[in-house]
Amino acid sequence: MRTQKIPTAEARTFSNSSDALHYCERLRFPIVIKADGLALGKGVVIAADAATARSTIDDMMNQARFGDAGRRIVIEEFLHGTECSLHALGRRKNYLLLESSRDHKRALDGDQGPNTGGMGAFSPANNWNTKLQSRFDTEIMKPLLRGLIQEGVTFRGLLYPGLIITSDGPRVLEFNCRFGDPETQALLPRMKSDLLPLLEATIDGKIERCAIEWDTRAAVTVVLASGGYPGKYESGKSISGLDEAAKLEDVQIFHAGTKRDGSEVKTAGGRVLAVTALGSTLETARARAYEAVSRIHFENCHYRRDIALNAVTANMTELL
Ligand code: GLY
Repeated sequence: MRTQKIPTAEARTFSNSSDALHYCERLRFPIVIKADGLALGKGVVIAADAATARSTIDDMMNQARFGDAGRRIVIEEFLHGTECSLHALGRRKNYLLLESSRDHKRALDGDQGPNTGGMGAFSPANNWNTKLQSRFDTEIMKPLLRGLIQEGVTFRGLLYPGLIITSDGPRVLEFNCRFGDPETQALLPRMKSDLLPLLEATIDGKIERCAIEWDTRAAVTVVLASGGYPGKYESGKSISGLDEAAKLEDVQIFHAGTKRDGSEVKTAGGRVLAVTALGSTLETARARAYEAVSRIHFENCHYRRDIALNAVTANMTELL
């Protein structure tokens, strides 16, 4: 990103905790501290003050809370704005952008609590528009793909830049080479075109000549998590109400952390289910998703009650 001048947060990497602690002393808070390895979406801490920064650095680097993934950390500038997830099928310098979506990363309502892999999503994102998309194309996607080619990387596949929309435009938070979870559960139910030919064109066709037909309706996805998630969570709890929830029109239930046990379905992971509903408006999709969620039960299930709520409220304010 530095080489190609792709807009992102100022960041530095540290392999030594005393250097990291020393660096923090001159920063303005909040700052973002990330484990530099894979941590199931949980290795990111937003430190509001110096004391939290110190304990997080100690936890990651000296106490090895994330194992080897946290031996090296990244300390980043905190970007103010709202998140937006984009997905692109890319082949060398060409790509086809999918519709936008928005994740809810914090565990609790009102964006409180620790970061998770994602507690819910909706699509399309209410903070995305054609003007931002044109800046995204020029300032992020084109330089990125050009940079990859310059470095001898032949990229063919799914690229998912996680963005933050700041008052100065889109900034990259992260790049993933996979579909987002749970963004995909909100995105793909809206995709009317067949996914497989698009994937094939990404590998050996002309993806830029393909077009995707989208359902114009909105989708809202609510994640049901096990008690304790994103920390140590419980497993093996019987899940009831799946059939009753699936009976609702335009509702789909995606299994993530479940397993069959005889005739029962039981919890077997942190994020257990993702419940998606489509609706002619975001408000309808949201109401339908929560209606489905209310029919599903397992002991100590927890989920956010405010997925897509701010966007629905913003839409209503616009109508007034
Ligand atoms: N929802 C965040 C991710 O898939 O990384």
